Amino acid sequence: MHAGEGGARLPLYAVSSAAVPNPATPVSRGISVTGLGNSRVRVSNWQGDQGVALVGPGRASLLPSIHDLHKVLDRLSKRGVARAVTPALSQRDAKPFLQAGFTTHEHLHLLAFDLRNGPHGPALAPPLPDGFQLRNGHRWHEHDVIAVDGAAFESFWRFDPAALREARRATPRHHYRVITNHGGVAAYAVTGLAGQRGYLQRLAVHPRFEGNGLGRALIQDSFTWLRKREATRIMVNTQERNQRALAVYRSVGFEPEPSGLVVLEWLR
Ligand SMILES: CC(C)(COP(=O)(O)OP(=O)(O)OC[C@H]1O[C@@H](n2cnc3c(N)ncnc32)[C@H](O)[C@@H]1OP(=O)(O)O)[C@@H](O)C(=O)NCCC(=O)NCCS
Repeated sequence: MHAGEGGARLPLYAVSSAAVPNPATPVSRGISVTGLGNSRVRVSNWQGDQGVALVGPGRASLLPSIHDLHKVLDRLSKRGVARAVTPALSQRDAKPFLQAGFTTHEHLHLLAFDLRNGPHGPALAPPLPDGFQLRNGHRWHEHDVIAVDGAAFESFWRFDPAALREARRATPRHHYRVITNHGGVAAYAVTGLAGQRGYLQRLAVHPRFEGNGLGRALIQDSFTWLRKREATRIMVNTQERNQRALAVYRSVGFEPEPSGLVVLEWLR
């Protein structure tokens, strides 16, 4: 999950969330919402859910106006869409959506780690337990990765294959890693890089393997990859009620930003 910070538009969506989808994403299931957006409003289906649209700021630097949003919501209603959600938004980016009738679905923490201040970053992760291996993620891992994601996240935040691909495409460069165990995937992470800013886009450990240092190892791997590419800052976000993830991020040195993010929803 990722969104705006300090007024800047971030390229992602949230962590525990979904990536900002490409507006051209073909909709293969359910109600098609293609063609309903414009340069200021991006519209796609939410995680393949037929009746739910994902509506977010478009690629233009201007925020959508209330009029833009009303037009889109009106078209969604006409297509039979009863619910829309936004990607994670900064307080600034959320404003027109709130004015257009969206309400808050969930608050997210936005956390940052400044690579310039911390020469070492997170404490060195201990070696992975026997039988676990950290490696690059490939297409053939997708089925397992989606299963890990489904076990790690509650339904609203779960990725389907399209959302995983979108998370990987959300930034100009990305790093896709898995930890395997006897051939299967036990955990995975997607890290993005846009300019000098890094984003820990997604991190999930299968509940069966939690507490073994896999999360920490993936975070450390992400830091190493970003540092080599001269990133200066790493951002991550997580649901306010995800105390476990928050504890993990704090334990490796992430600091909460003063203003968090919100995911909004609109119901017809
Ligand atoms: C959050 C998550 C990635 C943690 O992965 P993990 O492999 O269990 O974490 P680790 O074993 O590497 O623990 C890392 C550190 O976090 C801290 N930690 C872990 N679990 C904790 C808990 N329940 N409470 C407090 N701190 C905890 C510990 O300080 C640990 O440091 P240590 O190595 O010094 O003990 C995993 O629980 C998960 O996938 N959760 C569901 C999806 C999710 O929330 N993803 C990330 C946020 S969106």
